[in-house]
Amino acid sequence: MQAELVCFEPNCRASYPLSSVLYNCPACGGLLEVSYAGPAPDPIHRKSVWRQRRLTNDPLNSSGVWRYRELLPFDDATQHVVTLREGNTALLDAPAAARYASLDRLRFKHQGFNPTGSFKDNGMTCGASQARRLGMSRVACVSTGNTSASLAAYAAAAGLQAVIFLPHGNISFGKLAQAIEYGARTLQVEANFDQILALVRTLAEKLGIYLLNSINPFRIEGQKTIVIEMLDQLDWQVPDWIVLPGGNLGNVSAFGKALRELVHYGFIPRSPRLAVVQAEGAAPFYEFWHAGGPFHPVGHPETLATAIKIGDPVSWPKAAQEIRASGGTVEKVSEQEIADAKAIIGRCGIGCEPASAASLAGIRNLRAAGLLGAGEDVVGVLTGNVLKDPDYIYRYHMGQLEGPNGTPIAPHFGNRPEVVPNDADRIAQLLEEKC
Ligand code: F0G
Repeated sequence: MQAELVCFEPNCRASYPLSSVLYNCPACGGLLEVSYAGPAPDPIHRKSVWRQRRLTNDPLNSSGVWRYRELLPFDDATQHVVTLREGNTALLDAPAAARYASLDRLRFKHQGFNPTGSFKDNGMTCGASQARRLGMSRVACVSTGNTSASLAAYAAAAGLQAVIFLPHGNISFGKLAQAIEYGARTLQVEANFDQILALVRTLAEKLGIYLLNSINPFRIEGQKTIVIEMLDQLDWQVPDWIVLPGGNLGNVSAFGKALRELVHYGFIPRSPRLAVVQAEGAAPFYEFWHAGGPFHPVGHPETLATAIKIGDPVSWPKAAQEIRASGGTVEKVSEQEIADAKAIIGRCGIGCEPASAASLAGIRNLRAAGLLGAGEDVVGVLTGNVLKDPDYIYRYHMGQLEGPNGTPIAPHFGNRPEVVPNDADRIAQLLEEKC
């Protein structure tokens, strides 16, 4: 389909060619989105073609993003695509998590099964491909860790130079390790995510570096495919709810856009409701949603779920509109709730990083508040892999985890490793006692 960049603000809707290097509307400062025109795709035919593409070894068709390219802005430009065969992430039944949340059934779409272990890969393949199409040589982002890991990998694969800005001391070691291993120029700035984003935007303009944070509309387009693939895996049966964690609020904006387009083109008859979950120490969007009035950023966001430690989310206007349109809601969860939910997801044999567990903690709270019915069809999104933050896991299970303000987090589902002597009789005795 033909596509252009359009201002998201309803009163503006100024449009710009896809080749523009823009992150905000020059006319009004609003966020930008990709808008499609031209002949609409035929849903019945497309669904069947998308399913058949799964069977081939062609790089584009075996990517869980590019398989759905008819809903991406790369008509006649697929020669620029850089893919690591992202997407293709599992939709898993999690009975123990369902019991924990008092639901009859709960499924998780695990974006941690991506090449760099997070949902960012769905967006980054699209963003990095656009950088190539524009002829850019350098790409940059500020990140709480996952975006930088993903950017570093895709830039390396695309032959682009990556410059990564991180809040010093505030990202997990696993994510920092990925960025440096993939060869990115890595700058640890003594400031928080929101402050660094402002800095990076100035630098990107000054130095002509292509910015690949989720303010970039091409990232959002790629992340739409998380929902498209989920519905494909559900044989296009629409769930009642999709629940996901929120930080900068790009992902929920992408989900909402995907659902809008799928309903518009007749792929699904109605939209599921979207619920986004924030950590209570970094929950400006929760406050805005429930208190109304103007949006107030949180000056000093705090949470051990460092991936969503963001106080001034750029995509909040999109997120608000998309959640409202879906009849959804916004929830917040405590550090203890995140930690316990994470351990339960582990006990399902699935596992995830702390921010991802906000999904289950939020589902449990929404169920307890009566917003979710026991029999409703709920899909939780796990955004990052269990190995992203092993330090958090160890400290939780050892009873050493403390919240940002020093409050101890109880290991309600703790599973301490035991040190034993090199003595078969003693070990046999221990195992008999405890089993
Ligand atoms: N979950 C994980 C694991 C994340 O890394 C992020 C964001 C989110 C949830 C929230 O998604 O920002 O679209 O609302 N991480 C970004 C980063 C900010 O830099 O890696 P969002």
